[in-house]
Amino acid sequence: MSILNFRNSKAEGRKLSMVTCYDYTFARLLSKSSIDALLVGDSVAMAIHGYDSTLPASVDMMRIHTQAVARGAAGKFIVADMPFLSFRKGRKAALNAAQQLMTAGAHAVKLEGVDGHEDAIQRLVESGVPVMGHLGLQPQSVHAYGGFKVQGRDAGAAKNILRQAAGLEALGCFAIVLECVPAEVAREITAAIGIPTIGIGAGAGCDGQILVLQDLLGLTVDFQPKFARPFCAGADVVLDALRRFDESVKAGSFPAREESYA
Ligand code: KIV
Repeated sequence: MSILNFRNSKAEGRKLSMVTCYDYTFARLLSKSSIDALLVGDSVAMAIHGYDSTLPASVDMMRIHTQAVARGAAGKFIVADMPFLSFRKGRKAALNAAQQLMTAGAHAVKLEGVDGHEDAIQRLVESGVPVMGHLGLQPQSVHAYGGFKVQGRDAGAAKNILRQAAGLEALGCFAIVLECVPAEVAREITAAIGIPTIGIGAGAGCDGQILVLQDLLGLTVDFQPKFARPFCAGADVVLDALRRFDESVKAGSFPAREESYA
């Protein structure tokens, strides 16, 4: 999988699957799957580090997790998130942040929004860094929204997202994540632009879908948004294994003779 597959998939009508990945163990598993591409998302701050937003993700945090994923998922196309404000402090700061992520093993970077940092996007693209956009709900703007809220519900807001999507395409982005927008809006944007849209909470009309891996595996025990379908009961599997280990230890049946050294 490479950036070329993103371009071709839309023309061929082939849907793209993406999941987030933050660590080596899951990267090894994902390397054996048919999932098209991995995102080292800044959601790592929430899913792994337990923060209540993505804002605490730093370039350093993203670099370390990108390195771990790249070590485990050779052969997969890896996108890494540009964290909060890393692309808003001018072109040089954006290039420095992207350098950290690309040399850590990412094949592309993703950044939220477009207005006000067109020059950074343009410079990255010109410098050979594939850029994925991210529109709709932009979690780095959670405090500006007053919470994690669906975007583009009225005609003006929907039009604004479409305008931004066209802008990202014109700047040379190779794909756009559409997060938490009404399905009809996402469908319209998908039809209007030539690069693939990857939806999360954006309905079935996108060119691909992405989920946070922990949500997909049913490992999230706290709040789970309605779009995040768990494809297995991961928390139950883990808790059952932990219960059986605990019982075996306490019953003296673990470790068995064949699990011990003579
Ligand atoms: O960081 C992340 O997990 C993301 C997805 C929601 C697309 O950006």
